[in-house]
Amino acid sequence: MAKQHSLTLFLPLLLFFLHCISFAQAQAQAPAPSGPTNITKVLEKAGQFTTLIKILKATQQDDRLNSQLNNSNQGLTVFAPTDNAFANLKSGTLNTLNSQQQLQLIQFHILPALYTLSQFQTASNPLSTQAGNSGDGQYPLNVTTSGNQVNITTGVVNATVANTIYSDSQLAVYQVDQVLLPLALFGSPAAPAPAPSKPEKSVRAADSPSGSSDPSVDSSGVMSLKNKPVAVITIIYAVMAAICLLI
Ligand SMILES: *[C@@H]1O[C@H](CO)[C@@H](O)[C@H](O)[C@H]1NC(C)=O
Ligand SMILES: *[C@@H]1O[C@H](CO)[C@@H](O)[C@H](O)[C@H]1NC(C)=O
Ligand SMILES: *[C@@H]1O[C@H](CO)[C@@H](O)[C@H](O)[C@H]1NC(C)=O
Ligand SMILES: *[C@@H]1O[C@H](CO)[C@@H](O)[C@H](O)[C@H]1NC(C)=O
Ligand SMILES: *[C@@H]1O[C@H](CO)[C@@H](O)[C@H](O)[C@H]1NC(C)=O
Repeated sequence: MAKQHSLTLFLPLLLFFLHCISFAQAQAQAPAPSGPTNITKVLEKAGQFTTLIKILKATQQDDRLNSQLNNSNQGLTVFAPTDNAFANLKSGTLNTLNSQQQLQLIQFHILPALYTLSQFQTASNPLSTQAGNSGDGQYPLNVTTSGNQVNITTGVVNATVANTIYSDSQLAVYQVDQVLLPLALFGSPAAPAPAPSKPEKSVRAADSPSGSSDPSVDSSGVMSLKNKPVAVITIIYAVMAAICLLI
Protein backbone atom coordinates (compact mmCIF):
# COMPACT_ATOMS: atom_id res chain seq x y z
CA MET A 1 0.00 0.00 0.00
CA ALA A 2 2.83 2.44 0.86
CA LYS A 3 4.25 1.90 -2.60
CA GLN A 4 0.96 2.85 -4.23
CA HIS A 5 0.78 6.02 -2.17
CA SER A 6 4.26 7.07 -3.11
CA LEU A 7 3.35 6.51 -6.74
CA THR A 8 0.19 8.56 -6.53
CA LEU A 9 2.31 11.34 -5.03
CA PHE A 10 5.14 10.82 -7.44
CA LEU A 11 3.17 11.25 -10.64
CA PRO A 12 1.76 14.72 -9.94
CA LEU A 13 5.17 15.81 -8.66
CA LEU A 14 6.84 14.58 -11.80
CA LEU A 15 4.34 16.45 -13.94
CA PHE A 16 4.82 19.56 -11.86
CA PHE A 17 8.61 19.49 -12.32
CA LEU A 18 8.31 18.78 -16.01
CA HIS A 19 6.04 21.77 -16.33
CA CYS A 20 8.47 23.95 -14.37
CA ILE A 21 11.38 22.86 -16.55
CA SER A 22 9.53 23.55 -19.77
CA PHE A 23 8.40 26.93 -18.47
CA ALA A 24 11.98 27.82 -17.53
CA GLN A 25 13.14 26.79 -20.98
CA ALA A 26 10.51 28.96 -22.62
CA GLN A 27 11.69 31.87 -20.50
CA ALA A 28 15.31 31.28 -21.43
CA GLN A 29 14.48 31.15 -25.13
CA ALA A 30 12.54 34.40 -25.09
CA PRO A 31 14.56 37.07 -26.91
CA ALA A 32 16.13 39.51 -24.51
CA PRO A 33 14.97 43.06 -25.04
CA SER A 34 17.85 45.07 -26.49
CA GLY A 35 18.43 48.70 -27.33
CA PRO A 36 18.03 50.06 -30.83
CA THR A 37 20.46 48.76 -33.45
CA ASN A 38 23.59 50.84 -33.80
CA ILE A 39 25.00 50.73 -37.33
CA THR A 40 28.45 51.85 -36.17
CA LYS A 41 28.60 49.04 -33.64
CA VAL A 42 27.54 46.53 -36.27
CA LEU A 43 30.33 47.68 -38.60
CA GLU A 44 32.91 47.93 -35.84
CA LYS A 45 32.16 44.41 -34.77
CA ALA A 46 32.52 43.13 -38.32
CA GLY A 47 35.92 44.81 -38.73
CA GLN A 48 37.46 46.10 -42.01
CA PHE A 49 34.96 48.95 -42.37
CA THR A 50 36.88 51.84 -40.81
CA THR A 51 36.70 54.02 -43.92
CA LEU A 52 32.97 53.51 -44.25
CA ILE A 53 32.48 54.32 -40.56
CA LYS A 54 34.53 57.47 -41.02
CA ILE A 55 32.41 58.64 -43.95
CA LEU A 56 29.18 57.73 -42.17
CA LYS A 57 30.33 59.90 -39.29
CA ALA A 58 31.53 62.76 -41.47
CA THR A 59 28.19 62.87 -43.30
CA GLN A 60 26.20 62.25 -40.10
CA GLN A 61 24.54 59.29 -41.74
CA ASP A 62 25.40 57.14 -38.72
CA ASP A 63 23.06 59.21 -36.56
CA ARG A 64 20.46 59.34 -39.28
CA LEU A 65 20.49 55.57 -39.76
CA ASN A 66 20.38 54.91 -36.04
CA SER A 67 17.41 57.18 -35.55
CA GLN A 68 15.67 55.63 -38.54
CA LEU A 69 16.22 52.26 -36.94
CA ASN A 70 14.97 53.47 -33.58
CA ASN A 71 12.07 55.66 -34.59
CA SER A 72 10.35 53.88 -37.41
CA ASN A 73 9.30 50.51 -38.63
CA GLN A 74 11.02 51.19 -41.89
CA GLY A 75 13.42 48.53 -43.04
CA LEU A 76 16.89 49.38 -44.25
CA THR A 77 19.50 47.64 -46.34
CA VAL A 78 23.12 48.81 -46.29
CA PHE A 79 25.80 47.84 -48.78
CA ALA A 80 29.06 48.11 -46.90
CA PRO A 81 32.25 48.43 -48.97
CA THR A 82 35.33 47.11 -47.19
CA ASP A 83 38.42 49.19 -46.43
CA ASN A 84 40.01 47.31 -49.33
CA ALA A 85 37.25 48.46 -51.63
CA PHE A 86 37.90 52.08 -50.69
CA ALA A 87 41.65 51.56 -51.02
CA ASN A 88 41.14 50.23 -54.54
CA LEU A 89 39.49 53.43 -55.73
CA LYS A 90 41.56 55.56 -58.04
CA SER A 91 43.55 57.83 -55.75
CA GLY A 92 41.81 61.08 -55.00
CA THR A 93 38.40 59.71 -55.91
CA LEU A 94 36.86 60.64 -52.58
CA ASN A 95 38.73 63.93 -52.35
CA THR A 96 37.25 65.15 -55.60
CA LEU A 97 33.81 64.96 -54.02
CA ASN A 98 32.43 67.86 -52.09
CA SER A 99 30.54 67.11 -48.90
CA GLN A 100 27.17 67.04 -50.65
CA GLN A 101 28.51 64.50 -53.14
CA GLN A 102 30.04 62.42 -50.36
CA LEU A 103 26.64 62.37 -48.73
CA GLN A 104 25.06 61.19 -51.99
CA LEU A 105 27.73 58.54 -52.42
CA ILE A 106 26.97 57.14 -48.98
CA GLN A 107 23.21 57.39 -49.44
CA PHE A 108 23.59 55.45 -52.65
CA HIS A 109 24.71 52.51 -50.49
CA ILE A 110 21.52 52.57 -48.43
CA LEU A 111 18.17 51.18 -49.55
CA PRO A 112 15.09 52.44 -47.70
CA ALA A 113 13.69 48.92 -47.47
CA LEU A 114 14.80 45.63 -46.04
CA TYR A 115 15.99 43.07 -48.56
CA THR A 116 16.88 39.57 -47.57
CA LEU A 117 19.19 37.83 -50.02
CA SER A 118 16.27 35.94 -51.49
CA GLN A 119 14.19 39.09 -51.86
CA PHE A 120 16.76 40.47 -54.28
CA GLN A 121 15.70 37.70 -56.63
CA THR A 122 12.31 39.29 -57.11
CA ALA A 123 13.30 42.94 -56.75
CA SER A 124 12.63 45.06 -59.79
CA ASN A 125 15.45 47.15 -61.21
CA PRO A 126 16.48 49.81 -60.67
CA LEU A 127 16.22 49.74 -56.89
CA SER A 128 15.58 52.94 -54.96
CA THR A 129 18.39 54.18 -52.79
CA GLN A 130 18.48 56.99 -50.28
CA ALA A 131 20.44 59.00 -52.83
CA GLY A 132 17.12 59.56 -54.59
CA ASN A 133 16.46 59.63 -58.31
CA SER A 134 17.08 56.16 -59.69
CA GLY A 135 16.51 57.34 -63.23
CA ASP A 136 19.03 56.84 -65.95
CA GLY A 137 22.27 58.72 -65.47
CA GLN A 138 21.29 59.48 -61.89
CA TYR A 139 21.38 56.93 -59.07
CA PRO A 140 20.17 53.66 -60.55
CA LEU A 141 21.25 50.52 -58.75
CA ASN A 142 20.51 47.18 -60.34
CA VAL A 143 20.84 43.72 -58.91
CA THR A 144 21.16 40.39 -60.65
CA THR A 145 20.95 37.16 -58.77
CA SER A 146 21.72 33.54 -59.16
CA GLY A 147 20.57 31.60 -56.13
CA ASN A 148 21.96 33.40 -53.13
CA GLN A 149 24.63 35.14 -55.19
CA VAL A 150 23.79 38.79 -55.68
CA ASN A 151 25.59 41.10 -58.09
CA ILE A 152 25.15 44.82 -58.24
CA THR A 153 25.67 47.12 -61.16
CA THR A 154 25.52 50.88 -61.02
CA GLY A 155 26.38 51.48 -64.64
CA VAL A 156 29.88 52.44 -63.46
CA VAL A 157 30.95 49.42 -61.42
CA ASN A 158 29.93 45.80 -61.11
CA ALA A 159 30.12 44.55 -57.55
CA THR A 160 29.38 41.33 -55.75
CA VAL A 161 27.65 40.88 -52.42
CA ALA A 162 30.33 38.94 -50.60
CA ASN A 163 28.82 38.36 -47.24
CA THR A 164 25.95 39.10 -44.90
CA ILE A 165 27.41 41.08 -42.03
CA TYR A 166 24.20 41.58 -40.12
CA SER A 167 20.52 40.95 -40.51
CA ASP A 168 17.46 41.23 -38.34
CA SER A 169 13.82 41.99 -39.02
CA GLN A 170 14.62 45.63 -39.74
CA LEU A 171 18.18 45.91 -41.00
CA ALA A 172 20.39 43.98 -43.39
CA VAL A 173 24.06 44.87 -43.91
CA TYR A 174 25.91 43.27 -46.79
CA GLN A 175 29.61 43.40 -47.49
CA VAL A 176 30.45 44.49 -51.02
CA ASP A 177 33.82 44.18 -52.69
CA GLN A 178 33.63 47.56 -54.39
CA VAL A 179 32.50 51.05 -53.64
CA LEU A 180 29.23 51.55 -55.50
CA LEU A 181 29.93 54.55 -57.70
CA PRO A 182 26.74 56.16 -59.02
CA LEU A 183 26.41 57.33 -62.60
CA ALA A 184 25.39 60.80 -61.46
CA LEU A 185 28.83 61.35 -59.91
CA PHE A 186 31.11 59.08 -61.92
CA GLY A 187 29.46 58.17 -65.17
CA SER A 188 28.46 59.55 -68.45
CA PRO A 189 24.78 59.35 -69.30
CA ALA A 190 23.87 56.16 -71.13
CA ALA A 191 20.86 55.20 -73.22
CA PRO A 192 17.40 56.20 -71.96
CA ALA A 193 15.84 53.81 -69.47
CA PRO A 194 12.26 52.99 -68.51
CA ALA A 195 10.76 54.75 -65.53
CA PRO A 196 12.08 53.56 -62.19
CA SER A 197 9.90 51.32 -60.11
CA LYS A 198 9.63 51.21 -56.37
CA PRO A 199 11.21 48.38 -54.42
CA GLU A 200 8.76 46.00 -52.91
CA LYS A 201 7.64 46.34 -49.34
CA SER A 202 9.84 44.75 -46.75
CA VAL A 203 8.67 41.59 -45.18
CA ARG A 204 8.82 41.64 -41.45
CA ALA A 205 9.27 38.63 -39.28
CA ALA A 206 6.35 38.44 -36.90
CA ASP A 207 7.34 38.92 -33.31
CA SER A 208 5.62 36.01 -31.73
CA PRO A 209 5.66 35.99 -27.97
CA SER A 210 6.92 32.68 -26.73
CA GLY A 211 3.96 31.48 -24.81
CA SER A 212 4.39 28.16 -23.13
CA SER A 213 1.36 26.02 -23.49
CA ASP A 214 0.00 24.93 -20.22
CA PRO A 215 -1.09 21.33 -20.18
CA SER A 216 -3.53 21.28 -17.33
CA VAL A 217 -2.57 18.41 -15.16
CA ASP A 218 -5.43 16.55 -13.72
CA SER A 219 -4.17 15.14 -10.46
CA SER A 220 -7.55 14.75 -8.88
CA GLY A 221 -8.45 11.31 -10.18
CA VAL A 222 -5.17 9.51 -9.96
CA MET A 223 -5.72 6.10 -11.41
CA SER A 224 -5.82 3.16 -9.11
CA LEU A 225 -2.46 1.74 -9.84
CA LYS A 226 -2.61 -1.53 -7.96
CA ASN A 227 0.53 -3.58 -8.18
CA LYS A 228 1.31 -3.13 -11.83
CA PRO A 229 4.68 -1.39 -12.09
CA VAL A 230 4.87 -1.96 -15.83
CA ALA A 231 1.53 -0.25 -16.33
CA VAL A 232 2.63 2.60 -14.09
CA ILE A 233 5.83 3.20 -16.01
CA THR A 234 3.94 3.03 -19.26
CA ILE A 235 1.48 5.62 -18.03
CA ILE A 236 4.26 7.91 -16.84
CA TYR A 237 6.01 7.69 -20.18
CA ALA A 238 2.75 8.27 -22.02
CA VAL A 239 2.03 11.35 -19.95
CA MET A 240 5.57 12.65 -20.44
CA ALA A 241 5.30 12.11 -24.16
CA ALA A 242 1.96 13.87 -24.24
CA ILE A 243 3.45 16.84 -22.39
CA CYS A 244 6.39 16.96 -24.76
CA LEU A 245 3.98 17.11 -27.67
CA LEU A 246 2.00 19.87 -26.04
CA ILE A 247 5.02 22.08 -25.30
C1 LIG B 1 26.80 53.75 -31.57
O1 LIG B 1 28.06 53.15 -31.36
C2 LIG B 1 29.15 54.07 -31.44
C3 LIG B 1 30.45 53.29 -31.36
O2 LIG B 1 30.32 52.11 -30.66
C4 LIG B 1 29.03 55.10 -30.32
O3 LIG B 1 30.10 56.02 -30.39
C5 LIG B 1 27.70 55.84 -30.48
O4 LIG B 1 27.51 56.73 -29.41
C6 LIG B 1 26.54 54.85 -30.53
N1 LIG B 1 25.33 55.59 -30.87
C7 LIG B 1 24.20 55.42 -30.21
C8 LIG B 1 23.03 56.19 -30.69
O5 LIG B 1 24.12 54.66 -29.25
C1 LIG C 1 14.78 55.68 -29.28
O1 LIG C 1 13.47 56.19 -29.37
C2 LIG C 1 12.87 56.40 -28.11
C3 LIG C 1 11.41 56.79 -28.34
O2 LIG C 1 11.26 57.57 -29.48
C4 LIG C 1 13.66 57.47 -27.36
O3 LIG C 1 13.07 57.71 -26.10
C5 LIG C 1 15.09 56.97 -27.17
O4 LIG C 1 15.88 57.97 -26.54
C6 LIG C 1 15.71 56.61 -28.49
N1 LIG C 1 16.99 55.98 -28.27
C7 LIG C 1 18.08 56.31 -28.93
C8 LIG C 1 19.32 55.57 -28.58
O5 LIG C 1 18.06 57.16 -29.81
C1 LIG D 1 28.18 37.90 -60.66
O1 LIG D 1 29.50 38.34 -60.97
C2 LIG D 1 30.43 37.30 -61.02
C3 LIG D 1 31.80 37.94 -61.18
O2 LIG D 1 31.77 39.01 -62.07
C4 LIG D 1 30.06 36.38 -62.19
O3 LIG D 1 30.98 35.34 -62.27
C5 LIG D 1 28.67 35.81 -61.91
O4 LIG D 1 28.25 35.03 -63.01
C6 LIG D 1 27.69 36.92 -61.71
N1 LIG D 1 26.43 36.36 -61.27
C7 LIG D 1 25.26 36.91 -61.57
C8 LIG D 1 24.04 36.24 -61.04
O5 LIG D 1 25.15 37.92 -62.26
C1 LIG E 1 19.00 48.69 -64.71
O1 LIG E 1 17.82 47.97 -65.04
C2 LIG E 1 16.93 48.72 -65.84
C3 LIG E 1 15.67 47.91 -65.99
O2 LIG E 1 15.98 46.60 -66.37
C4 LIG E 1 17.60 49.01 -67.17
O3 LIG E 1 16.73 49.76 -68.00
C5 LIG E 1 18.87 49.83 -66.92
O4 LIG E 1 19.56 50.04 -68.12
C6 LIG E 1 19.76 49.09 -65.95
N1 LIG E 1 20.86 49.94 -65.58
C7 LIG E 1 22.08 49.47 -65.42
C8 LIG E 1 23.12 50.47 -65.01
O5 LIG E 1 22.34 48.29 -65.57
C1 LIG F 1 29.80 45.24 -65.89
O1 LIG F 1 29.13 44.14 -66.46
C2 LIG F 1 28.54 44.45 -67.72
C3 LIG F 1 27.68 43.28 -68.15
O2 LIG F 1 28.19 42.07 -67.67
C4 LIG F 1 29.66 44.75 -68.71
O3 LIG F 1 29.10 45.06 -69.97
C5 LIG F 1 30.45 45.95 -68.20
O4 LIG F 1 31.56 46.21 -69.03
C6 LIG F 1 30.95 45.71 -66.79
N1 LIG F 1 31.49 46.95 -66.28
C7 LIG F 1 32.62 46.98 -65.59
C8 LIG F 1 33.08 48.34 -65.14
O5 LIG F 1 33.26 45.98 -65.32
